[in-house]
Amino acid sequence: MTLILALETSCDDTCAAVVTGDGEMRSNVISSQGIHDEYGGVVPEIASRHHLELVNAVVDDALRRADATLDDIDLVAVTQGPGLVGALLVGVATAKGLAASRGLPLAAVDHLQGHVAANFLRVAGAAGPILEPPFVCLIASGGHTLLARVEDHDGFAVLGRTLDDAAGEAFDKGARLLGLPFPGGPALERLARDGDAQAFAFPVARNLAGLDFSFAGVKTSLLYKVRELGADGARERAADLAASFQHAVVEALAARCEQALAQTGLTRLAVGGGVAANGPLRARLAALGATVGIPPRELCTDNAAMIGSAARFVAAQPFAAYLGLDAYASGERALA
Ligand code: KG4
Ligand code: ZN
Repeated sequence: MTLILALETSCDDTCAAVVTGDGEMRSNVISSQGIHDEYGGVVPEIASRHHLELVNAVVDDALRRADATLDDIDLVAVTQGPGLVGALLVGVATAKGLAASRGLPLAAVDHLQGHVAANFLRVAGAAGPILEPPFVCLIASGGHTLLARVEDHDGFAVLGRTLDDAAGEAFDKGARLLGLPFPGGPALERLARDGDAQAFAFPVARNLAGLDFSFAGVKTSLLYKVRELGADGARERAADLAASFQHAVVEALAARCEQALAQTGLTRLAVGGGVAANGPLRARLAALGATVGIPPRELCTDNAAMIGSAARFVAAQPFAAYLGLDAYASGERALA
């Protein structure tokens, strides 16, 4: 059985995992850097330094939990991009070092392909693959918001993407306007439970071409509403503001998913990224009539198991060929 050791360091989570060649997750270690909470967002340089401090221990832990050593590993996989370039470089350099020390091949994986491939993982003990292509895939996190058409295991076609903020970023910024801590999504969802989603009509961008998203408008209209209400008024109506804001973001995401399903004729929808944890979004998508697949929470947010899963469908580079491999900060594909 092929064993893959995968690393993911594209943002602020230092992640390593062991995955088998047929997609069974043997371990999945995620070390989140809570340090950024006090700054209200991820500080790239701090993230890179923390990756450097944590990565070896996280790799050791992933091997140990999989009951494996580096001698058992057949392939090393790593996120090449997109992401914070300094953070990515820590993972890429570590993966190169580990692979080169054993003369192993290395698979360079696209982060977004990883989110798609989270759907192809089997968690030990659980039944069957979560979702097989073809399907429409919504990836909504703090860093990206993307709709993809997935026809096979090794690629996807972009149907739409955000033109400005990512959905998770919109939740984070909205939460900050309401005085909530970072990351804002879970806090805003909690506050919204006591609010009326119809209290304020926040705009959902509708007149965009194709299947693109835009969340800048809804954030700005929340800002204006908070200013109009004043500090005391906004505090009093915080739950209603949160519920109405959440409703607008969820509707924008759901409307695009519905359009993408209609346009492609596909009947299955996969959802990934941290925003997939949002209860009202899950409920709204479940009501679309399609088969909806949402991986377990730890496979929705950034993790290395999804990178190991994607690596199974990537042409690995033999020893020495990858020594010059570089990270890339943006785009959906390795630039070669
Ligand atoms: O995938 P993720 O863990 O990290 C990346 O950004 O790659 O996603 C984190 C994002 C944050 O913006 C966070 O506010 C959002 O996902 N999020 C949520 C919820 N849980 C996390 N947004 C809305 N509702 C939630 N329950
Ligand atoms: Zn991600």
